[in-house]
Amino acid sequence: MALFNWLGTKLPALMRPLLLLSLASYHFFITVFEVIFVEQSLGQLFNLTKLRYKAFARLWTRNGEAMSQEMPGPLDALLQKCSGVVLDIGPGSGEILPRFNASKIHTMYGAEPAVDLHPGLLRNAQKAGFGGKFHALLCGGEPESLIPALHKSGVLGRSGTRGTAENGVFDDICCVRVLCGVPHPKETIKGLYELLKPGGRMVICEHVVNPWRSEGSILARLAQFVYTAMGWPFFMGGCELQRRTPEYLREAAGKEGWAQFQLEYVDPKVAVPFVIGELRKRG
Ligand SMILES: C[S@@+](CC[C@H](N)C(=O)[O-])C[C@H]1O[C@@H](n2cnc3c(N)ncnc32)[C@H](O)[C@@H]1O
Repeated sequence: MALFNWLGTKLPALMRPLLLLSLASYHFFITVFEVIFVEQSLGQLFNLTKLRYKAFARLWTRNGEAMSQEMPGPLDALLQKCSGVVLDIGPGSGEILPRFNASKIHTMYGAEPAVDLHPGLLRNAQKAGFGGKFHALLCGGEPESLIPALHKSGVLGRSGTRGTAENGVFDDICCVRVLCGVPHPKETIKGLYELLKPGGRMVICEHVVNPWRSEGSILARLAQFVYTAMGWPFFMGGCELQRRTPEYLREAAGKEGWAQFQLEYVDPKVAVPFVIGELRKRG
């Protein structure tokens, strides 16, 4: 009986990501099928990175809304506080834009590399009341992609010519379900830290490696390893389950440290545990 109880409570939570993985692999194979037989553009098959973005965009366009109905922890309260000049990394099709208070925001930039998601993103920005204040940038959050796009849009002036903004330009930078997929996360997060104004804030809502040594679970940690071996990053647009994002975030502020570093785990015993909170740069 105890075994049945255990299977009934623990196993479903640990196996839930399997559903998402199956859905993502389905969309990948349908994308390949469409590229070959509908678009008849075989050249796309040789750019695997682009193909994976396209497949992920297909998955997100059809399921992003449902997957954004319930967000973990106090995300809404954190996003509602955003004001001034804001950068949203990987906004997708803008499913979480209604959670911001558009009237407090002067200008919002969304760095979204999946071009197929831009029409939905712009539509949702309008719906959320951003009007002309929302600017979609076709780039990733990694400095080599983001910095040129910020120069092009005019956000970075001369101070950014060396690849970073010396005094920062953003009041708030939001990373919601995106740092799991950015390339070289340590450097990317450091780059974002440099783009914050002194006293600026980073809002974080990210799934991370299971903290099994403290409040997490060894089974869930093992499940992360198994899902990764089954191709999670490949089918999920580069998303990694085992990222040490909290560590990279803490290190980004270097020796001076953050003025405020407030991150809490939500559901630390599952295979996709989130950390959520806000970090403030020293003024
Ligand atoms: C899981 S979706 C989350 C979308 C949105 N932040 C939300 O929570 O509703 C991840 C998004 O990150 C984008 N993405 C992937 N690689 C990225 C990168 N290197 N830089 C910025 N965004 C990226 C994807 O295209 C996708 O739109």
